[in-house]
Amino acid sequence: MKPTTFNTHAFDSWIRTRFVELNSELERRYYQQADRANVLEVGDEVKHALLSEGRALIKTLLDEGNTDEGFDSAFDLLGNVGLYMAACRRHEITEPTRETTSPLLEASALAMHIGASIGVTPRFATAHLTTHNRAHNGIYKRFTDLPDEKLFVDYNTKGILAYKRASDALLKIQPLGISHPMTLDLLRVAKQALQDVIDSNTTLFKRLDTDRFFYCVRPYYKPYRVGSVVYRGANAGDFAGINVIDLTLGLCFANEASYSQMLVDKFLYMMPEDQQLLRECMRRPNLMDDFIQSMAHRHEDWYQQNLKMFIEVCELHGQTAIQHHNELVTKYIAEPSVSMEQQHLAKVTASGPPLPVLLASLEKLRDRRAAANRSDIRTRYHDLNQLKNSLR
Ligand code: HEM
Repeated sequence: MKPTTFNTHAFDSWIRTRFVELNSELERRYYQQADRANVLEVGDEVKHALLSEGRALIKTLLDEGNTDEGFDSAFDLLGNVGLYMAACRRHEITEPTRETTSPLLEASALAMHIGASIGVTPRFATAHLTTHNRAHNGIYKRFTDLPDEKLFVDYNTKGILAYKRASDALLKIQPLGISHPMTLDLLRVAKQALQDVIDSNTTLFKRLDTDRFFYCVRPYYKPYRVGSVVYRGANAGDFAGINVIDLTLGLCFANEASYSQMLVDKFLYMMPEDQQLLRECMRRPNLMDDFIQSMAHRHEDWYQQNLKMFIEVCELHGQTAIQHHNELVTKYIAEPSVSMEQQHLAKVTASGPPLPVLLASLEKLRDRRAAANRSDIRTRYHDLNQLKNSLR
């Protein structure tokens, strides 16, 4: 085995074993307290072990320099460094408001070197834990051994994969056009995939324990510093598919500032192939405009069949957004925040903005996707009604 491979492998093994034990031990101790959100002066020797063992492994990798083992291996290593940095942040070994630059010097240097060289943000992103998280003997990388963390990651992955199935099908309509007989099939595939998102989110909603998620899972998704810059936390939306659906259906607009702001912010959190896909999609026309421009064909069978299915797809996409906001965000973030000790409140969200600001922006996103009747933001409420009225 080459020395490079050996060092990368040693760090990966540590992340998959000892790292999980240390985090799980700390979670056990925090959770026993009256104030479960407190991490100060708890398990200091465990935190020290986490910091120093990780640092030693990372230092060896940093000293090796560029080993050019290809994208997959670089991306994977970035994920491992990122998991370590996120855990240090969770246990407040680092704290971005306390510091101006990350005290994790070696980890920051390695993360920036890899991130810049492969064109992604220098922190761990959702793909590292979900779609690009290789399992060894049935077990994929996680922070802790808590069943609720596994449930959360399993159902994030399920949701992301289902959204991707829907977006893949919708993209295939573009070269065929809305009147093509196969467009009906592709819309059906998209509809089924969005139904899968709904079913999977329903199971997550029923099974995930609120306190475990809020106190022991979510904190690993907080923003942290790499070098001098604070990078927002990862969230399940950091893949192109969800926005490909928004834009291809025509429910959201790439030239609307608050929507495109979100796209601009998330580009580097996505895999490079997703970045490419989203860029292309931002330049293309959308299916809703195509149907509106084809209303003269309203008496044709293709128009009636394909439009009916298109509207069902739009409605289901809206329902996934309503479910995400009204069920998942409300139950697992908004409600528990109310009962949280005031001193910890500033640190609740993954992306950094204060909770009411985050909730308002997620609400707008929900209403665009659901084509709600709002006068303060541009939605497709009237256009969809016009199309519905053209159905027999
Ligand atoms: C307990 C479950 C979940 C909770 C509490 C939750 C909460 C959140 C929150 C608070 C955000 C805003 C970003 C931030 O805080 O930085 C967000 C973003 C997002 N989440 Fe979730 N989420 C959950 C599960 C899921 C699942 C299973 C999916 C399906 C793929 C998903 C899809 C998204 C998307 C697409 C975004 C980006 C914003 C958007 O485009 O809507 N989430 N989530």
